[in-house]
Amino acid sequence: MPPSSPSLPMPPMIEVRALHKSFESREVLRGVNLSVAQGSTAVILGGSGSGKTVLMKHLIGLLQPDSGEIFIEGAPIARISGHALNELRRKFGMVFQAAALFDSMTVFDNVAFPLREHTRKPENEIARIVHEKLDIVGLRDIDAKFPAELSGGMKKRVGLARAIALEPKIVLYDEPTTGLDPITTDYVDEMILDAQKKLGVTSVVISHDIGSAMNIANHIAFLHQGQICAEGTPEQMRASPHPAVATFLSTWRGKR
Ligand SMILES: Nc1ncnc2c1ncn2[C@@H]1O[C@H](COP(=O)(O)OP(=O)(O)OP(=O)(O)O)[C@@H](O)[C@H]1O
Ligand SMILES: [Mg+2]
Repeated sequence: MPPSSPSLPMPPMIEVRALHKSFESREVLRGVNLSVAQGSTAVILGGSGSGKTVLMKHLIGLLQPDSGEIFIEGAPIARISGHALNELRRKFGMVFQAAALFDSMTVFDNVAFPLREHTRKPENEIARIVHEKLDIVGLRDIDAKFPAELSGGMKKRVGLARAIALEPKIVLYDEPTTGLDPITTDYVDEMILDAQKKLGVTSVVISHDIGSAMNIANHIAFLHQGQICAEGTPEQMRASPHPAVATFLSTWRGKR
C-alpha cells in the first residue's frame, strides 16, 4: 500500500476579503467577503446596479480596490501590474454578456483568436484545439459560419469555446442567460455544468436569474447594498430568511 500522505488543505480558488470600492461619493462595494472552492460553481446574485460586474472586474485586475484583499489560489492579486497581471489573466476565461464575438470572423477564427494571439502553436495544432473546444460546448460543423448566422444560445457556446481555448482555471460568466428564452437558458445552464465537469474549472457566474442559479450553483452568494448579505447552497438559499433574498425568490416562484 502506498504510504498515506497527509493531505494539504487546498486554498480556495478565489478569496475576497473586506473589499471596498467607491466611485466618487457612491460606495458600491462595502466590505465584500467571498470564498469560492476549487472546481466549484459559484453564482453571485444581485439586483441591477448592485455591483456584480464591479466585483467581477476586481477578480481579473480590471479594477483596483480602495481597500481589502483578493487572493487567487492563495496569492494576493490586488494592486499587481505588468507581467504579474498578465499571468493572472491567463488563469481566467471570460464569457461576456453579449457573447462579444468578432462579427467579421468565422466561428473557427473566433475560437482560434486567443491561441493565435497568445501562443506560437502551429495551425494544425490550433485546429485540433478549436475542434476539441467546440466539441465540449456541443457544436460541430459550424467552422465557416459567421456570428450573424447563429442563434443567441449558439453564440454563447462559441463564446465559451473561445473562453476555454487557453485552458483557464477559472471561467467568469457575466449574465450568461440574460435575454435568452427559457429553453435556450436551459441549454446555456447545461453548457456551464458540462464545462465544469469536463474541464474541472472553477466557475463564477454573475446573474440576476435565480432559476439558473438554482440549477447550476454549488454555492450562491447574494450581493445586496454592497455586501454579501446571504450565501449558501441552493437549498440553504431557498430557506433564507433575508428579506432581499425572499423578494428575489418570490418573483422567481411567481414565474414557474
Ligand atoms: N467605472 C465606473 N465609474 C463610475 N461608476 C461605476 C463604474 N462602474 C460601475 N459603476 C457604478 O457602480 C454601480 C454598480 O454597477 P455594476 O455594473 O457592478 O452593477 P451590476 O450589479 O453588474 O448591474 P447589472 O445587473 O445591471 O449588470 C452602478 O451604480 C454603476 O453606475
Ligand atoms: Mg452587470
